[in-house]
Amino acid sequence: MDLGEARHAFVSGGASGIGLAIADALAARGLRVTIADLNDEALAAVLAERGAHFRGVRLDVRDRAGWQRAKAEAEAAFGPVDILVNNAGIASDGKTLADMPPESFDRVIAINLTGVFNGVSTFAAGLRDRGRGHIVNTASMSGMVADLPGLGSYSPSKFGVVAMSETLRLEMAPHGVGVSVLCPSYVATNLMANTLRAGGQLSDPSASLLAAPMKPPEVGEMVARAIEEGRFYIFTHASRREAVEERHAAIVADFERM
Ligand SMILES: NC(=O)c1ccc[n+]([C@@H]2O[C@H](COP(=O)([O-])OP(=O)(O)OC[C@H]3O[C@@H](n4cnc5c(N)ncnc54)[C@H](O)[C@@H]3O)[C@@H](O)[C@H]2O)c1
Repeated sequence: MDLGEARHAFVSGGASGIGLAIADALAARGLRVTIADLNDEALAAVLAERGAHFRGVRLDVRDRAGWQRAKAEAEAAFGPVDILVNNAGIASDGKTLADMPPESFDRVIAINLTGVFNGVSTFAAGLRDRGRGHIVNTASMSGMVADLPGLGSYSPSKFGVVAMSETLRLEMAPHGVGVSVLCPSYVATNLMANTLRAGGQLSDPSASLLAAPMKPPEVGEMVARAIEEGRFYIFTHASRREAVEERHAAIVADFERM
């Protein structure tokens, strides 16, 4: 999509990290941006540093009535949403599946996967009917390869986001609406601290991603460029290519045994 023709972007989980960086990259291209987030303090801090082309709305992506209110409020202020970024997410608790409390599994799926569906359910029909726009769903490299123990809720949530995005792409393409799925590896964000704040659990509460070499603004620019280029998969770390190739080779190898 030519971002010069887009006016309004709506970014869930937009008050921090990757979501905020995507919001900034889109705002730098002239869009008005609504950032939706659970964290009131972060919303207030972000808005205090940005101009009138930014608005914030409090939203828990699990709350379907909240999505309707957020859409009404955002579109009353900035007009129809052209770019939807379903980005809000939390980390998993790090426990093996054998030891994972069911409510911990449910929480990660509700935020990371059903939360993305809730965004699609709220905005996709309008985008389709207007015949323009773009949807970006934030998955993860953990939605491409499940090669680490302890991610037994996170990885299924992100594989689900990839699968939902692949389906959505097929459904929206005939109507001129683009879809992308963002699959980052480690990016320096407050994901761990925000997971605890959002009611999630961590085996190691001091865990942090902040030392990761890739910083969010780099990812924000990648996403803005991918929207402009109409790219579906957005990978951020070339070093993870081998892991994807290994997984696919193992799948193909079994077909060859048939
Ligand atoms: N940082 C990484 O290494 C990494 C890697 C792969 C994927 N991701 C994904 O990127 C996305 C953004 O994460 P981040 O790393 O920027 O973390 P972050 O914690 O900096 O940003 C996530 C934002 O989502 C918000 N949020 C959490 N639960 C919410 C809810 N229920 N409703 C609304 N908002 C909610 C948080 O308040 C926070 O502002 C997530 O989906 C995450 O799974 C991150």
